Amino acid sequence: MITESTLLDSPNGRSSGEPVQSAITYEKIPTHIYADAKAASRAVAQEIADLIRQKQGEGKPCILGLATGSSPKTVYAELVRMHREEGLSFRNVVSYNLDEYYPMEPDSLQSYWRFMKEQLFDHVDIQEGNYHVPDGTVRPDKVAEFCRQYEAAIEADGGLDFQLLGIGGNGHIGFNEPGSLSNSHTRLMMLDNSTRAAASGDFGGLAKTPRKAITMGVASILSARRVVLLAWGERKAPVIRGAVEGTVSELNPASYLQTHPNVLFVIDEAAASELTRMKTPWLVDSVVWDNKMIKKAVTHLSLTLGKPVLKLTDRDYNDNGMSDLLAQYGQSYDINIDIFNQLQHTITGWPGGKPNADDTNRPERALPAQKRCLLFSPHPDDDIISMGGTFQRLVDQGHEVHVGYQTSGNIAVADDEAIRFADYVVDFNNQFGIKSPEATRIFQDAAASLRNKKDSEMDTAEVRYVKGLIRMGEAKSTCRFVGIPVENAHFLNMPFYETGTVAKKPLGEEDVRIVMELIEQIKPHQIYAAGDLADPHGTHKVCLDAVMEAVRRLKHKNFMKDCWVWLYRGAWAEWDIHEIEMAVPMSPDQVMRKRLGIFKHQSQKDGVVYQGTDSREFWQRAEERNRATAGLYNRLGLAEYEAIEAFVRWKF
Ligand code: F6R
Repeated sequence: MITESTLLDSPNGRSSGEPVQSAITYEKIPTHIYADAKAASRAVAQEIADLIRQKQGEGKPCILGLATGSSPKTVYAELVRMHREEGLSFRNVVSYNLDEYYPMEPDSLQSYWRFMKEQLFDHVDIQEGNYHVPDGTVRPDKVAEFCRQYEAAIEADGGLDFQLLGIGGNGHIGFNEPGSLSNSHTRLMMLDNSTRAAASGDFGGLAKTPRKAITMGVASILSARRVVLLAWGERKAPVIRGAVEGTVSELNPASYLQTHPNVLFVIDEAAASELTRMKTPWLVDSVVWDNKMIKKAVTHLSLTLGKPVLKLTDRDYNDNGMSDLLAQYGQSYDINIDIFNQLQHTITGWPGGKPNADDTNRPERALPAQKRCLLFSPHPDDDIISMGGTFQRLVDQGHEVHVGYQTSGNIAVADDEAIRFADYVVDFNNQFGIKSPEATRIFQDAAASLRNKKDSEMDTAEVRYVKGLIRMGEAKSTCRFVGIPVENAHFLNMPFYETGTVAKKPLGEEDVRIVMELIEQIKPHQIYAAGDLADPHGTHKVCLDAVMEAVRRLKHKNFMKDCWVWLYRGAWAEWDIHEIEMAVPMSPDQVMRKRLGIFKHQSQKDGVVYQGTDSREFWQRAEERNRATAGLYNRLGLAEYEAIEAFVRWKF
């Protein structure tokens, strides 16, 4: 069983090492929250290993139900490590995977058969013939029979001892999409549009993403003797809350797990962030009222009641589980004014510090008046999308601004866009008789390979080069637009990103070294980095890890004593209002200017390769998010701005 020793410390201030207990009043599924996916995955892998060994001791096979997707990857990696380093054997393991796209060739890049072999089967001693993945090549008229046999085979093996699950953003388990019945069995399903959108990145666009999949049913999953569901990242937070605290409903198929007698959800802090015990812990238990908790509770109270902070009354505090806080202060007025002032002090039009001003209550130092600022942008457009207003202000206010573009962003360029550019160069060279054999070869190869590319193939090195060049040109164009010299745009092309597919390599030593070198070269007073936690496996998180590791290694250097690190959020979400430490307002004109800056990224407009589940264009997401932040400040009783960009300081 999972030990609780590595579970996250309580959000409500219990002592270190003590696990977060389920809030029985709200949570209907046992849920363990870990600080991160790695610690959580270790615990799950340990449970699986214990089960395999127990069955070995009994001389029995261990029947595992397995899942694909990004969530179980860290569990499989840990199982492979245990096999290599601790002699964990899989010879008694028989496995059945939940699902497979349909139709799907097993050797296709996106097949779940291939995924399982690459992540687990090829690295352990499981016997061939003992692992099963639904067959995506079965003839349409044979699918129903295949599904019956799949279920029968599981039953003949004695049923599943353990079922591992991920969860879709819409609550699907396996590919049991919303609407699936609790008594459903293995069958062919139509995929939900949101599922296809989420998978479209793997397939090079929505149009190429399969519409169907074979999946084990809800009843098949519920028949397992033990079920463990994994969820990482804040994108999963709302659906986890629904499954754990909501009513059982076919609209959120994971909620069916409330009816299972031996289920556990293992999730990270970000995926837990919408659970009542994390979001409003004072409604669940007594809490330690430190400043962060007070700010969180007061802003929450103000926004929930629709009353500005300065209008909250004693009664509001008493009626909403905060009477102990009120008792600590004596009267609501004192709490209100304290929090109002703190919020007020986060707002500044001078993100690089205001020269000749008292900076006691300002987010940034006044001195040095002219700062060197280094903006890290994971993709070539994150700088302008997520902090374009602040970028512009830093330049306008005379700071020396550099941008470190961390990855080439090449996989997000559509093939036809790349052909257009490759043809342009080839035609140009032909017309002028330019005979640079290397240049002509690269672009000719790229154009030819794109014309013949099959959906399942990844980009060649030449194609990646052309696509990277397109994005580099767009980033330079934004830099010119904002007003920094092109020499201040540094293209780092971090190697972890250069796989040619959505799946990236883990952060490597070379990645960290590249980031360190740029920091040492610029010696910045300010570093801005994307603190995007929505997707723990995503590019933004790896890029952030690289910056943090580089800063940790450099922090003993003299110049780092003057360096402050500010984190902006990615295109997905904004910091919670109580976390924001610097809020940079924008006028309507500044919002419009930022929009034009985003427009420089033409390859990312008008239907992008990795649209995901959000159909808005990037400039729309950015504007709506920045307006929403301004709206929150206003609802809390502060001045009304058109839009606000928000930052949190990382004190290394
Ligand atoms: C995969 C599967 C799906 C995924 C779910 C979450 O075999 O059945 O239900 O578990 O879509 O995917 P990730 O983990 O990629 O977020």
